[in-house]
Parts: sequence; structure tokens; C-alpha cells
Amino acid sequence: MIEKPSYSKRPCFIANWKMNKGVAETKAYLQFFAEHLPKLKELSCDVIVAPPFTALFSASRFLKEISMEVQLAAQNVYFEKTGAFTGEISPEMLSEFECAYVIIGHSERRHHFGETNTDVYRKLNALGKTGMLPILCIGETFQERRAGKTWNVLKRQLETALEGNDHSIADWVIAYEPVWAIGTGETPEPDEVASIHRQIEDFLGDQFGEALPRVLYGGSVKENNVADFMSQSSIDGVLVGGASLSAESFINMIESGTMSKQHLTTNLKINE
Ligand code: PGA
Repeated sequence: MIEKPSYSKRPCFIANWKMNKGVAETKAYLQFFAEHLPKLKELSCDVIVAPPFTALFSASRFLKEISMEVQLAAQNVYFEKTGAFTGEISPEMLSEFECAYVIIGHSERRHHFGETNTDVYRKLNALGKTGMLPILCIGETFQERRAGKTWNVLKRQLETALEGNDHSIADWVIAYEPVWAIGTGETPEPDEVASIHRQIEDFLGDQFGEALPRVLYGGSVKENNVADFMSQSSIDGVLVGGASLSAESFINMIESGTMSKQHLTTNLKINE
């Protein structure tokens, strides 16, 4: 079903490698990309890769060397600038190399490391003037979904994260990732995701007006389902974990996802 009369946002594909791949594997992956990924300009989409911290610097140097249009994201950040915070990394440290985005509030951070909505808020604010943009992750657990609380949970996550924010969020990325879908092979139906995305857009639209960020879906996205998600007009892209670890598989997803979005755009134009 077509929900909106126009589609104007560039589709976005994010590979979240989590705690996988060292420096050499990262280079090999990006090399494969350079050899096999069709020109991103022609595909008209954005591709973002989030390696572990330890591989970010060499990835940034290598992408520059081969002039690849892939962008980098860090998987996490701390909200203080400097200080006695053993093991943490500040936004200023990340911005030393070309790291365009930072994933904030991923459910694995929330659930394994006890990150709260308030931590997410602090991290978003800490990115501040560094020029890096957040990929803000929100999502409900299975119990919350079963209790019919999905929207309440998402709304609370958004409200706390955005409290007092009077800056533009148009260039941010919001990733809706149901916790129960991450790494499980289970996914909600694409039209269910599409309707949640519309609720997110309406909520953001009320606060921030027309210039809205892209809203991505994440959770068990694979080669065989990416086109179904991307064929929904309110799904602007996907955040892929496990299936992005193979460069070949991720490229296939980028191609079939953009193709699906192009078909949608053509159909929308025909029906206008
Ligand atoms: P998955 O992870 O694709 O392995 O389910 C998605 C994510 O955690 O971002």
C-alpha cells in the first residue's frame, strides 16, 4: 500500500559490525567494497559502516586513500570531554578522524551495559559542535510489545533523548530497532514497521516541523527481506548487524534495497 505521495530522501544503509573485525579484516572488507560496490552516486544512496573503535582510524585513512564515498560511524561515545573515565572515548577523540556518525542508544548498550534514556540524552548533547551526527536507536522489548506498550516506550525514548533540543535534527538518523528482532531472525511485518515510522515522523514533525531525519529499520535485516522493508515509503533505510559482516551480502542488500526504493518512487510518480 502506498502511504505517502512522494519520496525524496536518499536511502541509507548502515553496517553495524558490533564487536567484530580487526584492522586487517576491516581493510579487506573496504577493499572488496571498492572493487564491487557500484558507484554510490549512481545508486543514489548513503552507505555507512560502523567498525569497532580499534579499526576506525585505519578505516578512515584507507577510505581517504581509495577515495571511497562510504562514511564511518562509531558504535558508541561517552558524554564527557576528558577526564578519569577509564575505557571511555569522547566525541572530540572520535572527531579527530573522519567519523561522520555515532550510533547512540543501541539496545545492546541499553541492555548489556545499563545505558538509560538519560545517558542517551547526554551523549546526543555531547556530540554538539563536533559536527558528528547521531544514529539514534530506539526500540521496544518483546514484553513491552506484548503488553501493547510499543508506542509508549518509543515515545518516552524520543522525548527524553530530545528534551530541550532546539537544533535541527534533519540530518540525524533515527533507527527503529525492536529489541526482540535484533539477531533473532524474527522481524515485524514491513507494514507494521511502516506504521510505527509514521508515528515517529508525526511525533518529530510536531516538534521540529518539516525538516525530518531519515527513519531506518533495524533487526534481522537480510538479503531476502531488505526489499520488502525498503518498498515501504516511510522506511528510509536499514541498519544491519549480523548480515552486514559479509561485504558481499551487504552489497547485495544495498543493491536490492535501492532498487526496491527506485520502483516505489517510480510507482508514486505514475500515480501522482
Ligand atoms: P541484526 O542487528 O541485523 O544482527 O539483527 C541489528 C542491530 O543490532 O543493529
